[in-house]
Amino acid sequence: MCKKDFKILDGSYTYLDTAASAQKPSVVVDRIVRFYETEYANVHRGSCHLAQLATQAYEKVRGTLADFIGASSDEIVFTKGATEAINLVASSYAETLQPLDEVLVCIAEHHANFVPWQQACLKSGAVFKTFDVTDAGEWDLDDFKSKLNEKTKVVAVSAFSNVLGVANPVKHICDLAHSVRAVVLVDAAQSIAHQKTDVRDIGCEFLVFSGHKIYGPTGVGVLYGKKTFLQALKPYQFGGDMVDKVTIENTTFADVPARLEAGTPPIANAVGLGAAIDYLNQVGLDKILKKEEMVFHLLINGLNKIDGVKFLGDASLKKGLVAFNIEGIHADDLNLILAKENVCVRVGHHCAMPLHHRFAVNSSVRVSLGMYNDENDIATFLRALHKAIGFFK
Ligand code: ALA
Repeated sequence: MCKKDFKILDGSYTYLDTAASAQKPSVVVDRIVRFYETEYANVHRGSCHLAQLATQAYEKVRGTLADFIGASSDEIVFTKGATEAINLVASSYAETLQPLDEVLVCIAEHHANFVPWQQACLKSGAVFKTFDVTDAGEWDLDDFKSKLNEKTKVVAVSAFSNVLGVANPVKHICDLAHSVRAVVLVDAAQSIAHQKTDVRDIGCEFLVFSGHKIYGPTGVGVLYGKKTFLQALKPYQFGGDMVDKVTIENTTFADVPARLEAGTPPIANAVGLGAAIDYLNQVGLDKILKKEEMVFHLLINGLNKIDGVKFLGDASLKKGLVAFNIEGIHADDLNLILAKENVCVRVGHHCAMPLHHRFAVNSSVRVSLGMYNDENDIATFLRALHKAIGFFK
């Protein structure tokens, strides 16, 4: 879990933007290079030795991912990221939802788990509904219950907000949604590297995440679905590797997961993602979480001592990431100085405009941790923040 496993973190930058994208350990980079140099060919197509090596490596990762979240291999669909995975599911529901059906999402959702459902409702005539969060940043379950009813067909929620940093009770929401026979999609993009994920325990029909937020490459992600629910999805794209039989008149499709993976998939990225999961397993999630908690505590303590800090939500509920503003200073201005000091944070609405609107702000500064962050990063960040405040106040 040392910084030295991540070559980019050689001291030039203080990287506190893991919620946007995690840095990659050398084992991931090296695995991708080795794969391209010694095992690469297209998958599921050739019978030459290289094609077999590539297919084995790619399919092995499907198994690794299934084990990682407590699923079976045939419930894992490779996508290019969490966003594509949600779009895949939402585009299928856009064809089957009926006018007056309802889709319920949280106001705190990232646009990736908000806009596809809003658009699916616009297309189908279904009703798009949101439920609120409390001022502290937790799900408002009373509001959720008041919006949930027999017409609710889909509930789409994130396990961990990318702005509020609160771990949400997804298992409980599944139980509530299932009482009216609604299906639940869980966006685990932010939670996947920061808490244990067990899809059977959660009970959701679908769960998605991106490789790049769990120390793997960009361009690869995962759609988990209970098998019968995956089988009920309409193919999202058409092309090679997803068909059974093609004639001039018609096409029959392969079973899942192949049916939902048209075209040449992100083969090397998937192999890199497998290396990332192996690395994470080797370091141990429990050990990572313990360290993140300790470092996060230092961060919140430091922020709490600054006059005029306004957190989005209650800081004591947060884990691993915090978004805030400083009274009287625009977030973009703070970022000017932070960036000059080579402190990497994210500033803006973090693809969660409705949530920022809910908290009556346009933007915020977000600091998010990864397994490599340590007390020195927090000290450097707080020094740079104090400098920025001194400059603008
Ligand atoms: N979803 C990423 C974030 O929250 C990009 O920053």
